[in-house]
Amino acid sequence: MKVLVVGSGAREHAIAWKVSKSPKVSKIYCIPGNGGISDIAECVKIRAEDIELLLGFALKENVDLTIVGPEAPLVDGIVDKFKEKGLKIIGPDKKGAMLEGSKIFAKKFMEKYNIPTAKYKTFKNSKNAIKALDSFESPLVIKADGLAGGKGVAICETRQEAEKAIIDMMEEKKFGLSGENIIIEEYLEGIEASLLCIIDGKKIIPLESAKDYKKIFEGDKGPNTGGMGCFSPHPLFTQALKNTIREEILDRIMYGLNMEKIIYRGILFIGLMLTKNGPKVLEFNVRMGDPETEVILPRLKSDIIDIFEKTLSGKLTEDDLKWDDRHCVCVVAASEGYPVSYEKGKLITGLDKVDKEVVVFHGGTKKVDGKIYTNGGRVLTIVALGDSLEEVREVVYNNIEKINFENIYYRKDIAKLGQ
Ligand code: AMP
Ligand code: GLY
Repeated sequence: MKVLVVGSGAREHAIAWKVSKSPKVSKIYCIPGNGGISDIAECVKIRAEDIELLLGFALKENVDLTIVGPEAPLVDGIVDKFKEKGLKIIGPDKKGAMLEGSKIFAKKFMEKYNIPTAKYKTFKNSKNAIKALDSFESPLVIKADGLAGGKGVAICETRQEAEKAIIDMMEEKKFGLSGENIIIEEYLEGIEASLLCIIDGKKIIPLESAKDYKKIFEGDKGPNTGGMGCFSPHPLFTQALKNTIREEILDRIMYGLNMEKIIYRGILFIGLMLTKNGPKVLEFNVRMGDPETEVILPRLKSDIIDIFEKTLSGKLTEDDLKWDDRHCVCVVAASEGYPVSYEKGKLITGLDKVDKEVVVFHGGTKKVDGKIYTNGGRVLTIVALGDSLEEVREVVYNNIEKINFENIYYRKDIAKLGQ
């Protein structure tokens, strides 16, 4: 069968890599892809956001299954458009994608179905929002309603910071229309965890847990990024916690989706804060995480195509997901200056020196005349599996040292326990 992967990051490289291991697959396309994905898939120069062109391509090439990496095409309704033409695609329809596309929609959904989350209020104008600041304790969190490339969340320690965040979003329109409406919510204290789930229209099945490192600098300092490293499983995911998450979060999500008549056949990524009062939902994403995907798919032993076929036919069971018990760690090698500003076009060397069992997923890379150059902020994700977290972290760091490009930057504390 012919599979199309939409996107261009290390997440999409990991998806294409896992798809390539299925005996059912004869051809993989990736739109637009990158320098590493082109080794296993035919990369096609179409923008991932251009749904009409994607649809035309999938129809022309008789694509049997489409897997969408990034959120924007899902929020714009790619699934509805593909389904109208009889094409198979993994993801929620436009209404379901609002769980990521509108944080206010997601909060109202959680409130209605009693899913634990931070207390919040929504605002349509900056004056009322500023006035309401007095009713929140510091620190507090201000969020733009719409998509903001992972930058629409401000954690504010002081009133001054909070007022500035409100003005930036609502008056200066820092995130355009996405900041027209905002949320102010209580700050949750705890340890974060990422839980990706698959929903087959009827059931919600969690994948293995992961811990993401969102901040650019060691010790979780500096601005938020897409994620600088990750490991799986999350050390706090005991059976007791899994049971609580099933009862208080997953079952209620599934009930809510049914009640709202949302057709959901795809991935739901739940960002959790594990607080002393139990797990609470920070956010939903309607796609796989990056870099979570890069540590979860190497642990998945089952054929991903089988899983997605069952997802689309409503026949997925927990037993279909077989897991490697080992630990998986990834570290992201970025261009210095990311997530603010950075240079591109630097020659990458040493990729051929990496150990055979280590996998390097490409993010922002480009292949020119057989050589690989940097082409983005998060450039490469270096991944390994091992029996202990300590051992596997050492393998990843030994191997990342073999790779070089001008201004390479990576965190040195990924998967270091106690961090
Ligand atoms: P989000 O895009 O909503 O996941 O927010 C991005 C990041 O901001 C999260 O991964 C958390 O680190 C942080 N964050 C968001 N909401 C809260 C909250 N209510 N309390 C504490 N931290 C938060
Ligand atoms: N790593 C977090 C995300 O993909 O949103």
